[in-house]
Amino acid sequence: MSNIQLHTTEDGSTTYFNEQVGEHYHSTFGAIQESQHIFINAGLEPFLSRKSVSVFEVGFGTGLNALLTLMAAEKREVIVHYSAIELYPINRTEAASLNFPELLKMSHELFLKIHESPVMDTFVTDHFHLRKWQESFEGITLEAQNYDVVFFDAFSPEAQPEMWTTEGFIRLFQTLKPGGYLVTYSCKGLVKRALKEAGFVLEKLPGPPGKREFLRAGRPEWT
Ligand SMILES: C[S@@+](CC[C@H](N)C(=O)[O-])C[C@H]1O[C@@H](n2cnc3c(N)ncnc32)[C@H](O)[C@@H]1O
Repeated sequence: MSNIQLHTTEDGSTTYFNEQVGEHYHSTFGAIQESQHIFINAGLEPFLSRKSVSVFEVGFGTGLNALLTLMAAEKREVIVHYSAIELYPINRTEAASLNFPELLKMSHELFLKIHESPVMDTFVTDHFHLRKWQESFEGITLEAQNYDVVFFDAFSPEAQPEMWTTEGFIRLFQTLKPGGYLVTYSCKGLVKRALKEAGFVLEKLPGPPGKREFLRAGRPEWT
């Protein structure tokens, strides 16, 4: 999965287009806008009043969700343990071409630090601990009841149906703590069905500009 091209989305933030998959890494209506709305506001925010939060991301990609989480962790002084898998990491030069730090008025070096290596286990800042693996989602074993939030940010179900299966969502259900959330941008029927079969309770929430709805799937407290 190489051959990626830099694009600018409608909110001025950049993203990559993956030629092989035929998809962008983010919504073309606005990369930062989409990440902030779906993953940070609906996924992370409900846990930011705690002392610490643990997040698992499927598809680290450009690191935008991680960067916005780092910023929220520093602003709110909450320790975030952020774990992510990415099978095809972008390289440092590709990361350096993204304009997120400039638009978010934060350090470029800090952004490059999260792209230092495809495998990491380190505190990047006082409040943001990053653990990354270069592995396939299909192959990984996840610890039971380990995370508060899952950011499920794979390419679409049309492009990568193998990522959106009931079996995969069962593993994510089990790795969430009861009361935890999985958030994802897709609201497709097959995604809803697979999430329900895995045990999740679904909420359809209003989407960012250009997207009517997205999904927040909860692992109920009693499970
Ligand atoms: C929609 S993009 C992710 C966007 C990312 N969260 C960001 O903020 O840039 C999907 C990502 O999943 C990765 N990916 C594709 N197949 C994968 C697999 N089997 N396991 C893990 N990651 C995979 C792709 O390389 C890509 O980076």
